[in-house]
Amino acid sequence: MTIIAGNWKMNHDPDSSLAFFEKLKSYGSIPDNVKTVIFPTFLCLSSAQNNLLGVEIGAQNGNPEKSGALTGEVSIFDFPKINVNWLLVGHSERRHVFKEGSEFLKKKVETALSLGIKTVYCVGETIEDKEKGLTGEVLKKQISYLGDFLSDENLTIAYEPVWAIGSGMPAGSKDADEASLLCKDFCKRDIDVLYGGSVNSHNVSNYLNSGLISGFLIGGASLNADSYRALIDAVA
Ligand code: 13P
Repeated sequence: MTIIAGNWKMNHDPDSSLAFFEKLKSYGSIPDNVKTVIFPTFLCLSSAQNNLLGVEIGAQNGNPEKSGALTGEVSIFDFPKINVNWLLVGHSERRHVFKEGSEFLKKKVETALSLGIKTVYCVGETIEDKEKGLTGEVLKKQISYLGDFLSDENLTIAYEPVWAIGSGMPAGSKDADEASLLCKDFCKRDIDVLYGGSVNSHNVSNYLNSGLISGFLIGGASLNADSYRALIDAVA
C-alpha cells in the first residue's frame, strides 16, 4: 500500500476544497493499493472529512496542550473528536519559519501518539547541511530526539530535504533510499518512510523501485485534483 499524502499548506478555502474533492470524485474510486491522506487548512478539516472517497484527513499542526490561554492555537486533543486521525509534526516550515524546537515537537508527537493519532514526523537537512556532508547527522539528531516514541506503530517518518521543497529539484532516488535506510536504522525498525520534495506524477515512480520508500508527502502537486489523481494513477 503506497501512501499519497497531500500537504495543502496555506492553500484552498472551504469552497475550493469542496471543488477539489468533487473533481477527484469524478475520476472514480481510488485504487485499493493506494492510501490517500490530505492535510488541509483547519478551516477545511470538517468539510474535507465528508469527501465520500475514503481520503483520510489530517491536521497540519496542533498544540500539545489540552486547553488554555494560547491565542490562535488548536489543541491536538480536539482532532479525534472530529475524526481527524493524522497529524504532521516537524515540517520544515514549522521548524524554520515558526522556529519550533525539538522539545516542542517531541511534546506534539507524544500527545498525538497518546491519542492514537497517526503522526507523520518530518525530517530533512538544509542545503548547507548537505554540502557539508551532514545529512546523516542531522537526520540522526532529529529522529533520536523522539526516544521511546520511535517504537510506536502510529509513527511514520517523512524525509523532506529542505532544499527540495517547492524548488523543482527533487532528491535523486538513490539519495532518498539512503536517507530512508538511515531513518530506519535510527528508529531501529522497518518504519514507513515517506519522501517529500518536488514530487509530481512524472517523477514519483522513480522512488518505488527499491521498496525503501513507502509513500509520498506532496505539496504543490496535491493542490489540484487532476495532478493529485495523476500521482495516484502513477503509483497504483
Ligand atoms: P512540494 O511538493 O511543493 O515540493 O512540497 C513538499 C512539502 O513540503 C510537503 O510537505
